[in-house]
Amino acid sequence: MKKVSFAEFGGPDVLHLIDAEEPHAGPGRIRIAVRAAGVNPADWRVREGQVLAAHPVELPAGVGLDASGVVDEVGEGVEGVEIGDHVFGEGSSTYAEFTVLSAWARMPEGLSFEEAAGYPSVVETALRILREVGVRPGQTLLVSGASGGVGSAVLQIARDRGITVIGTAGAANQDYLRSLGALATTYGEGWVERVRQFGPVDAALDLAGSGVIRELVELTGDPHKVISIADLDAPRFGVRFSGVAGSVPDALAEAVGLITRGKLHIPVEKTYTLAEAAAAHADSQAGHTRGRRVIVI
Ligand SMILES: NC(=O)c1ccc[n+]([C@@H]2O[C@H](COP(=O)([O-])OP(=O)(O)OC[C@H]3O[C@@H](n4cnc5c(N)ncnc54)[C@H](OP(=O)(O)O)[C@@H]3O)[C@@H](O)[C@H]2O)c1
Repeated sequence: MKKVSFAEFGGPDVLHLIDAEEPHAGPGRIRIAVRAAGVNPADWRVREGQVLAAHPVELPAGVGLDASGVVDEVGEGVEGVEIGDHVFGEGSSTYAEFTVLSAWARMPEGLSFEEAAGYPSVVETALRILREVGVRPGQTLLVSGASGGVGSAVLQIARDRGITVIGTAGAANQDYLRSLGALATTYGEGWVERVRQFGPVDAALDLAGSGVIRELVELTGDPHKVISIADLDAPRFGVRFSGVAGSVPDALAEAVGLITRGKLHIPVEKTYTLAEAAAAHADSQAGHTRGRRVIVI
């Protein structure tokens, strides 16, 4: 089968499309014929060797966590899924023609493979940080870096829970944030004042890692009301860095419910072929994705 792989840590050009042995589903796993794979910043962080302590990597390595596709092998002990089912979920080396998933759910009616591959890890992250920050219905949540994959999920899930959301994004994404039900303003010079004009903030999430933790603490008045997923310096300000994934099966079940009720839709900004994986990484690393980027097989 064809698979994207890298044999050394480095820039996007270390990615190569190679011929590889097909993986097989061990106990508790399923194999899918991959139809689409989500592109996450974690993919290029691993490729660069940035997060080796949390994600040890043996080279050569495959790339990708999220995928959607058609079940073609069911491992021992797995129940509730059959060959031919359309599923989305998480595994490893998902930029490939076949991959093994460790967590999955049946895709909701009407969702394309391309869209489905964009949900698993961003929904897990969004649900986790909303839980950890402890924001409640009727309160106001500030989201710094709200237009990317995680932000798109956070905004819609929070809105569904009756939470008012203020999001920051670039000028080109203001209407996008409003379309997801958020109050929107731009980041950059004067952003704290612009946020204050919307009223008091009960809790805040830093999704962009753009060096704003001090300001988020100021706006909420309490470091325990702030969570970052992107700024390793956050603990210096008494703010928690959230980096340990919660239950992916639970997140997928919740995603299916939200998508089916029409409360969650994460758009795909651009698709790529397997051979274009390096371009997908370069575009993601530029840091201005609206919604998701997806590799289509
Ligand atoms: N710790 C964890 O468990 C965990 C889990 C998932 C992701 N992450 C990390 O969280 C970050 C976000 O992930 P993602 O998938 O949402 O990324 P993404 O889809 O690439 O989105 C990045 C967003 O950041 C915004 N942005 C860029 N510069 C900004 C600035 N100066 N201020 C505010 N926003 C800015 C961009 O908005 P504009 O285009 O509008 O500029 C873009 O929409 C990544 O660093 C990722 O590695 C961590």
